[in-house]
Parts: sequence; C-alpha cells; structure tokens
Amino acid sequence: MRKLLATTALAAVALMALSGCSTRTDTTGGSTAAAGFPADSVIGVALPSKTSENWVLAGGLFEDGLKTAGFKGDVQYAGASTTVKDQQDQISAMVTNGAKVIIIGAADGGQLGTQVKAAKDAGATVIAYDRLILNTPDVDYYVAYDNFKVGELQGQALLDGLKSRKAAGPYNIELFSGSSDDANSAVFFNGAMSVLQPKIDDGTLVVASGQTDIKQTATAGWKAENAQSRMDSLLTSTYGDKALDGVLSPNDTLARAIITSVKAAGKPIPVVTGQDSEVESVKSIMAGEQYSTINKDTRLLVAQAIKMAQALQKGEAVDVNDTKSYDNGVKIVPAYLLPPVIVTKANAAEAYANDPKLAPLTK
Ligand code: BGC
Repeated sequence: MRKLLATTALAAVALMALSGCSTRTDTTGGSTAAAGFPADSVIGVALPSKTSENWVLAGGLFEDGLKTAGFKGDVQYAGASTTVKDQQDQISAMVTNGAKVIIIGAADGGQLGTQVKAAKDAGATVIAYDRLILNTPDVDYYVAYDNFKVGELQGQALLDGLKSRKAAGPYNIELFSGSSDDANSAVFFNGAMSVLQPKIDDGTLVVASGQTDIKQTATAGWKAENAQSRMDSLLTSTYGDKALDGVLSPNDTLARAIITSVKAAGKPIPVVTGQDSEVESVKSIMAGEQYSTINKDTRLLVAQAIKMAQALQKGEAVDVNDTKSYDNGVKIVPAYLLPPVIVTKANAAEAYANDPKLAPLTK
C-alpha cells in the first residue's frame, strides 16, 4: 500500500506536536527551545503566481496563521511572467533576512536547487508546500494533499460520469494534464491513468485524438487560454462529426476553459473533471455543467504547514505520515499528506458543509 498512516509511533508524535502547540509560549527561551529557534522568528512563504484560487487563499491564510502563531511571516508571490526568477530572488531574500523556516510552493520545482541549498547552509529548514521541489537534497519536508489519490479520484469520476450518461461504452474522451514544470502534474496524470489506462486498453474508452502522452496533454503554465486553444484544435481536428463524451481535466481553471471551448463550438458539454473547488466551478457543478472537482481545503493544508514550523521552533519532531511516496530524484522527502475528497453535484452540500464560502452555493 502507498499509504502507511498512523502507526503508534506517529500517533505519539502527532500528540506531542498537538500538545506542544498549546504550550508554545511556555517554552520560549526554555530548555526545549534550545534545539529550536526564537518564537518570534521570520518564517518565509514563497508561493507561485496565482494560477488558481488555492494559491490566492493560501497567501492570506499564511499571513494570518503565522501572525497568530507569534511568528513574523514573510509571504511572497512570484509574478505572472517572471515567475521562476521572482521566486528564486524571493527565497534568497528570505535567507538573507534570517528566516528559520522557508515554506515553498514551487513555481518550477526543478529550478530551486541553488536557493534551497543557500537556505540549508544558513541553517533554515525547507518545507515544500503542495508541490514537491525536485533534484535536491536540500528539502526537508513535504506537506500536500495526496496528489496520486487526486488523480485516481479524477479518473474514477470521469468513468462514473460517463456511465451515468450512457450505460455502456465505448466513450470518446480527451486527456489534459497540468504544467510540466509543476511536479504535481505527472503525479495527477499517473494517478488518473492508473484508473483510465485499463479502460483504454479494453476499448471502453477511446482517446479519439490519439494524444495520450503527457507531453501532448500538458498545459503550459496551467493557463486557461492554453487549455482552451488545445480543446479548440482537438474539436476541429477530431470531433467534426464525432461525439466527445468526456474530458480529463486536472483542475477547475482548465475545466472551465475546456467547457468554454466546447460551448463555443456548439457541442454538448461532455463529462469534465476538475480540482480545487473554485467558486466558479462549484457553481458550474451545481448548474449541471462541470461534472466533478476535488476538495483540498486550503485552510487545513496551511494549518498543517504552520504546525510543522511550530514543531521546528520548539525543536520537536515534525509530524509526517508518509516516508516512501515522494522521491524527488535525490531523496525520499518525508511528507505529511492530507486526504483529498471528490465532489460532484450529489455530495457537494455534504462536502462543503464546513466551508462558509462554498456551502451557500450548494443550497
Ligand atoms: C495544485 C493544484 C492547482 C495547480 C495550478 C497544483 O500544483 O496542486 O491545486 O490547481 O497547481 O495552480
């Protein structure tokens, strides 16, 4: 099994971390802080550009959460056009400013080696947030929703949606994946293909364009316009007189772009998957257009990352629940993975019951 959760030892570590949280101020300057760092230290948070709503939410939640925890938060976003360079410079500045922990949502997971090495050399701890940082020994922890599971849920949702509309195949589908500079993209795609490939092999699913390689399905920069223009081309090249039954979309922004393209071509909307529970997509799902999304509550992910920083501050063990899934090319990065939840119109009210922003949309 990929997932090996909650052994007794891990549960004990989790309890220690939890109880530690509530007594954090008591340990300031005390003996347990000796192995950690001062309670009002700078914690850097380097986020990519705002390619989806989850990143927008994360910034505000980090600002508030780090402040409440007593830290000095330094939260930065990379710009839209000079993303990689911006993020590299921001991380370097955090190191110079003495950040004790640097939490990074990588703009390009393969291009931060120099900056995270500098962070480690300066004594900071590096936490990869949501997206893994690749090909470097200098990333200490990873905190994310279980990305492979996200893909599996998307693949299964596509199959379920197709069956709900037409009892038996073959079904014509197309595949989209995320940006190739985001380590998550391949993990989402592989998770989805673990469900879809056997159905392609047995003829239930037909990728009518023949484009099944991740290089062909990728969406540069996770940009809506790139998905929309690829869908436009596929419709023209392949679906002149053929029905398009379903589309694997890796996230909500791209799902809506795909739906826009199909509508503009005057075709019926196929079963389209998504991810992130963006407001516009939840509305679309309730209106019967987009078929599914994934709930990866950003509040919980940010809280978990801050909990890691708090454990480090106190010199305590950081809570992880997966020590074998995330090989970054150089090492297996110890991870804390949260469980993603599939959402369709059928379970939206239940899935978002605790989310004051989304719950009203499901009424
Ligand atoms: C995140 C997704 C998001 C995508 C585009 C991925 O790394 O895991 O939630 O939709 O980036 O921003």
